Amino acid sequence: MKNYLVTGAAGFIGANYLKYILAKHDDVRVVVLDLLTYAGYLGTIAGDVDNERCFFVKGDICDRPLLDRLFAEYKFDVVVNFAAESHVDRSIDNPQLFLQTNILGTQNLLDAARAAWVTGRDAQGYPTWRNGVRFHQVSTDEVYGSLGAEGFFTETTPLQPHSPYSASKTSADHFVCAYHDTYHMPVSITRCSNNYGPYQFPEKLIPLIINNILAGKPLPVYGKGENVRDWLYVEDHCKAIDLIIHKGRVGEVYNVGGHNEKQNIEIVKIICKELGKPESLITHVGDRKGHDMRYAIDPTKIHNELGWLPETKFEDGIKKTIQWYLDNREWWETIISGEYQNYYEKMYSNR
Ligand code: NAD
Ligand code: TYD
Repeated sequence: MKNYLVTGAAGFIGANYLKYILAKHDDVRVVVLDLLTYAGYLGTIAGDVDNERCFFVKGDICDRPLLDRLFAEYKFDVVVNFAAESHVDRSIDNPQLFLQTNILGTQNLLDAARAAWVTGRDAQGYPTWRNGVRFHQVSTDEVYGSLGAEGFFTETTPLQPHSPYSASKTSADHFVCAYHDTYHMPVSITRCSNNYGPYQFPEKLIPLIINNILAGKPLPVYGKGENVRDWLYVEDHCKAIDLIIHKGRVGEVYNVGGHNEKQNIEIVKIICKELGKPESLITHVGDRKGHDMRYAIDPTKIHNELGWLPETKFEDGIKKTIQWYLDNREWWETIISGEYQNYYEKMYSNR
């Protein structure tokens, strides 16, 4: 049995990852640690937790005594850190929370893992580590900044974040790398492009547009809608993380993305078409400050080293995603019933 600590698994990607690894591996036991912020919903993973293979703990990755207790009790072999404040627009509104969770929280987890996993010292004085342990940080392509019309992000592209969100994720990545370089900690990092799929909180573009259409609301597109994102179906991201934890090299960064670039306006039009709604619902609103123009991942490294390729084509993934929101109205109606209404009002009423 391998014992996993998966943080942030009541959120979008973490929940999909949890479901994926529980179905794929008989030999993993998981503790989910999630603070259940506005973005975390226990209902998403209610059928997966609280049995002998998976256990839920409500708590903060910044809470060191809690982490120490969990490491002592469950003897984790693997930590997968999804927990984060993840929305760029919210980071523009309140940057400090992003520093707290994304930087200090990650460093706190790194330290708790270090305290639990170090077994001694080698001849050079570097720490030695318990066999088979791994700290995996789930990062984003946004750490690389923004591209012009040409080119792709590779793992050696200089980090040049622009938003408070991406600056905090960049800082966390630097800490993860620093723990590898300084303490030889067995770490890995994935930097993935924009995900879409089931269970995504409707503050992000694709579920927001689907939900607005279903709720009969206008479809807000920032600026001209020409910004480009590189969309990946969430399960393909989960598979990449799983592959890297099992076979990826320690101390390495792997870019994850599927060469599926689309302008925002194209995405919104595709969803309108799928749902049989007129494009006249589209409303151009004020642009995001510091809005990154284009993200595009070069996934050659993960493909060449580990054979990973995205399996879900966008045409199929978007249909599946729309169908999921149609079939799970209760899920998203619950999600948007509380704080989301205030958020939406504040973000979109005077845009
Ligand atoms: P999300 O916002 O849907 O979920 C984040 C989860 O973290 C929530 O369940 C929340 O309750 C939890 N959380 C927040 N603060 C916490 C804390 N202090 N302690 C414990 N739990 C806490 O995010 P997501 O879209 O699933 O993203 C997950 C990770 O993947 C993030 O690190 C994000 O930076 C990264 N990422 C996201 C995308 C994307 O397109 N969504 C792409 C690449 C990378
Ligand atoms: P988002 O889903 O917030 O992801 P990210 O900012 O991390 O890429 O936004 C995706 C793109 O869609 C981004 O260019 C901003 C744009 N966008 C809109 O045009 N309207 C919206 O209401 C939202 C939420 C995003």
